[in-house]
Amino acid sequence: MSLPTLPTAQLGTDGPAVGVQGLGCMGMSEFYGPTDTAEALATLDAALERGVTLFDTADAYGFGRNEELIGPFVRANRDRVVIATKFAIERREDDPTHRGIRNDPAYVRAAVDASLRRLGVDVIDLYYMHRRDPAVPLAESVGAMAELVRAGKVRHLGLSEVTGAELREAHVVHPIAALQSEWSVFARDVERSAVPAAAELGVAFVPYSPLGRGFLTGSFAAAEELAADDIRRSQPRFSGANAAANTGLLDPIRKIAEARGITPAQVALAWVQQRAEVHGLTVVPIPGTRKRTRLAENTAAATLRLEAGELAALEPVAGLVAGDRYPDMAFTSVGRE
Ligand SMILES: NC(=O)c1ccc[n+]([C@@H]2O[C@H](COP(=O)([O-])OP(=O)(O)OC[C@H]3O[C@@H](n4cnc5c(N)ncnc54)[C@H](OP(=O)(O)O)[C@@H]3O)[C@@H](O)[C@H]2O)c1
Repeated sequence: MSLPTLPTAQLGTDGPAVGVQGLGCMGMSEFYGPTDTAEALATLDAALERGVTLFDTADAYGFGRNEELIGPFVRANRDRVVIATKFAIERREDDPTHRGIRNDPAYVRAAVDASLRRLGVDVIDLYYMHRRDPAVPLAESVGAMAELVRAGKVRHLGLSEVTGAELREAHVVHPIAALQSEWSVFARDVERSAVPAAAELGVAFVPYSPLGRGFLTGSFAAAEELAADDIRRSQPRFSGANAAANTGLLDPIRKIAEARGITPAQVALAWVQQRAEVHGLTVVPIPGTRKRTRLAENTAAATLRLEAGELAALEPVAGLVAGDRYPDMAFTSVGRE
């Protein structure tokens, strides 16, 4: 039996065509509680079978172990998979909460070789700068990334959590195929400057955490319910009074889901696809899941259409959210705008 497959979208003006929904692999190695590795690996295969071709990882996820985990899958399907990874967040095994931001050219050159080795491939399809260090001129960092393209180590470049102005500046140095930043029903700050800049430049937008890190699906209500090392415990909008206040924001999502016989996750994913149309840009959301059932549910949402009245009911949600996306917003685009 052949499964319904996804339509495709192009990353940037000269990037690859990928399924309109990608897969975030981060949770398979860290951050969101214990993982059944066999099921996670089966989810990778199930994704490809359904037309998902953009697979997202980073050197920081699981201290490199996420790249190692998905490497065999990438190699086994090398001509069908578009592998995206990232550099810039320096971590320490002896202090899992430590985050150093490195954008200097020497670091970029060392990081790409380490990612290539862990993935076991000879070229990375899409290489992102994960976070911006404003102390390093963008021309230097993106210049070093462009050298990797010329050296054949990387095919296309991406940036994450940069402002619209930073995206424009980088795009002059080398074409940027994709901007990856948080964008969902309840995280819309990117619509101020990053989204319009991407639309104008023809850069594809890759919304991360399109399910609000799971919160928009209703699968957890507060950080206190989560494992002790779950990263959502440190994110202001999931804690204490903020979480309690934000739970009510799920009501319109649930109402639409019930009336349509779909799930809250599907409402959230359909919203981000349609919101991109308003801004006139290409989006390839990368919901993260480690389970085949959820993968099927999520990919089914890629072609769902919400009605005007449903979109209107979701419009106020982001403006009512209590709490920031991160404890330190200086490392996000909106924190520097
Ligand atoms: N560039 C950046 O700075 C950045 C930051 C964060 C994430 N990312 C990337 O973006 C990807 C996606 O973001 P994310 O994982 O943070 O958040 P997300 O996609 O918004 O949500 C993921 C969470 O939702 C759960 N989930 C997925 N589908 C579900 C469904 N249909 N019903 C109920 N629960 C569901 C997942 O649990 P299960 O796994 O148990 O299904 C997981 O806990 C990551 O994997 C990573 O590759 C990038």
